[in-house]
Amino acid sequence: MKKVKVGLLGLGTVGSGVLKILARNQDKISNIAKRQIEVVKALVRDPKKHEKEANQVKLVTDFDEILNDKDIEIVIEAIGGLHPAEEFIASLLEHGKSVVTANKDLIASHGPRLVEIANRNNVDFMYEASVAGGIPILNALSQSFAGDEIIEIAGIVNGTTNYILTQMVDHHANFQDALKKAQELGFAEADPTNDITGKDAAYKMIILTRFAFGANLTFDDFEYHGIEEVKSFDVRQIAKLGYSLKLLGISRKVNNHIFVEVGPTLVKQSGQLAHVKNEYNAVGVRSMAVGNSFFFGPGAGSLPTANSVVSDLMAEVNDMSMTSEAESFNRYQDHLDPAKPKEVFDSFYLSLKIDAKDDAILTVSKLLVEHQIGFRELNKVEEGKSTYIVLVTDKISHQQLNDFTTAMKKNNISVQAAYKILK
Ligand code: NAP
Ligand code: HSE
Repeated sequence: MKKVKVGLLGLGTVGSGVLKILARNQDKISNIAKRQIEVVKALVRDPKKHEKEANQVKLVTDFDEILNDKDIEIVIEAIGGLHPAEEFIASLLEHGKSVVTANKDLIASHGPRLVEIANRNNVDFMYEASVAGGIPILNALSQSFAGDEIIEIAGIVNGTTNYILTQMVDHHANFQDALKKAQELGFAEADPTNDITGKDAAYKMIILTRFAFGANLTFDDFEYHGIEEVKSFDVRQIAKLGYSLKLLGISRKVNNHIFVEVGPTLVKQSGQLAHVKNEYNAVGVRSMAVGNSFFFGPGAGSLPTANSVVSDLMAEVNDMSMTSEAESFNRYQDHLDPAKPKEVFDSFYLSLKIDAKDDAILTVSKLLVEHQIGFRELNKVEEGKSTYIVLVTDKISHQQLNDFTTAMKKNNISVQAAYKILK
């Protein structure tokens, strides 16, 4: 059987998972790929650290040893981050090597440029593992939903924050302990800042929005928030109201514009998203033809992520045996401007920290009338030495919410939380 030689950049959580899957499932993989897939070289910084998992793979510390190896036809990038991953991938594609990556930072920030290089050199460039780890959501959107019209994508797309929230709510863990555990389990990024601040989920929503709506957004086009400011008071109040708090990414078409947002969001306790726990991810797709579909699975971790990488690798091996031109992973392109805050409507949960002696509840009531905001909950809640107003609004525009919170700040009322409620 013919051999395909593969190079690997990085031998961390994902890279070592790829070696494990290729070794364990060797027979099935070569049966399907009709080729024997062999990782021949892996780029690492410290070979001594990786001797054990490398097994037969030659460890190299110089990228050029992989770039200039004419026998290597496909390279897996699993070092992460923007640099030097971007330069490495661009050079590999220019040298006619197909590439598989799990790097959402890079795909979200520079994907179109790298895709253009891949197309120009007629090589494959795939990145299923960059969104929702082990869930094959990008393949589903690019192939299975190719003929359908997608209306909304809403999902939990960061495993680390979902793990932390689950541990805090279900096991009363504190934030730092839960984060440390997520790092030990290999879910978090090497630097977990992007996980916690919502940036990692925002990268994934940029990629999902390209596949679902063809629109190419940047961070200037939408807001993202993380879980670093979430207070246990709000988690408790939200539970009393019958909801769970999740870090959710939403991408939706509004009046032929595109609305994307990442932030803590209330989901019904009885709904599917509330039952997505720990490092598990889920992506709900609402589309014209299919209706509602729900993709659920592990969003992070060594073997689930590596499985997506190996499946891309096998697709590329399969493509190599065809004589036709390589095709882009995502072929959908459209121009959609970002929706304006006055066009987008949601209900919101708000908690306002007030001075018990003030007539804050009167001020809030007046401001609600002034901004034409209806509500279904307006409660004064005392906890310890603090007093809060907990408010659940009717559907209002995001512009109304912005104006209302600005007015409250002017009246010295501190807005502790303003979270969207998923319908
Ligand atoms: P990781 O465990 O930190 O592994 C990265 C590896 O790359 C480390 O072994 C690191 O070496 C090596 N590396 C970094 N820079 C390098 C360089 N310049 N030259 C050579 N080696 C270098 O990260 P990971 O979790 O495997 O993530 C890899 C990629 O997959 C990232 O883009 C991540 O976002 C993505 N991803 C991860 C998951 C997950 O669950 N972990 C899921 C989906 C996608 P040292 O050991 O010397 O630091
Ligand atoms: N750090 C990421 C997460 C890895 O927790 O979701 C998967 O992309």
